[in-house]
Amino acid sequence: MSHPVEALAGACRRQDGKAGRRPGPLAALAALAAIGLSAPAWAAAPVLTLYPYGDGAVAAGAAKSAVCAACHGPNGNSTNPLWPRLAGQNAVYLDEQLQLFKAGVRNNPVMMPMATMLSDQDIDNISVYYQAQTPLGDEADPSYWKAGQTLYDYGDPSRSIPACRACHGPIGTGNLASGYPALRAQHAQYVIKELQDFASGARYAGAGPEKPQSRNGYMMATIAKLLTPEEIRNVASYVQGMR
Ligand code: HEC
Ligand code: HEC
Repeated sequence: MSHPVEALAGACRRQDGKAGRRPGPLAALAALAAIGLSAPAWAAAPVLTLYPYGDGAVAAGAAKSAVCAACHGPNGNSTNPLWPRLAGQNAVYLDEQLQLFKAGVRNNPVMMPMATMLSDQDIDNISVYYQAQTPLGDEADPSYWKAGQTLYDYGDPSRSIPACRACHGPIGTGNLASGYPALRAQHAQYVIKELQDFASGARYAGAGPEKPQSRNGYMMATIAKLLTPEEIRNVASYVQGMR
């Protein structure tokens, strides 16, 4: 039987074989257990993983991102609420997502041609460039964010919903080593759309614990299915206001 982590790494594997070691964050492990997923291999022993952006250069990324700014805004601070903010997003996650768009694994007709224009080196450069930018953004909706904060910080153990905080961090900066994305300052409308797409399976073609198509995507598919529309609205409002 091939090990799940090997299968997961396949989607993003790079030709040049750049690799690093990644620690297993305990909080994230507890969250995995809460949603009934078994601990991945790195829980038992450190496994090789990729820090694919390792040789990325901020200045080269800034130049290459000119075309991206049309939608993602200057320095990755977009104004359209369905075009995600990229400023301050972690480079591991950005790199992986660009490779997944390019491979057609993350379904998006707008981003696929954009990513296809980029070489692996461009992707590395762009990823470190956006990581180095400061996220600016909108406020949280005062009617919703408090309930959203409770869900973010504690989840709902009675319904097996893990705390978002365990993986996305106490202030929403994500987890670089594991490639868990930052959520702080992300547009609420984009967050709502992504949670709906994880739940419906629209974000990835055929992803699931048995057939993972992105290294981490199946985690959110499981979690998003447990959330009500109100919870999605509330937590999306909360993260939009996080800095
Ligand atoms: C025509 C508008 C447009 C342009 C130009 C564009 N993007 Fe996007 N991008 C989008 C949209 C829309 C999404 C959200 C897709 C979805 O709903 O899943 C997105 C998503 C992304 C994501 C995923 C973010 C996340 O949080 O998961 C990354 C990374 C990204 N774009 C990078 C880029 C880069 C790099 C460029 C330039 C080479 C670029 N984009 C150009 C519209 C655009
Ligand atoms: C076990 C770890 C874990 C937990 C707990 C978790 N997430 Fe995630 N989340 C991830 C990972 C990993 C991704 C990236 C998945 C991928 O590769 O597409 C992600 C992606 C997301 C995205 C898409 C980000 C983007 O830029 O497109 C949103 C929104 C999100 N999570 C919200 C939540 C919310 C809300 C909760 C709590 C109810 C939560 N997550 C709990 C690991 C987790």
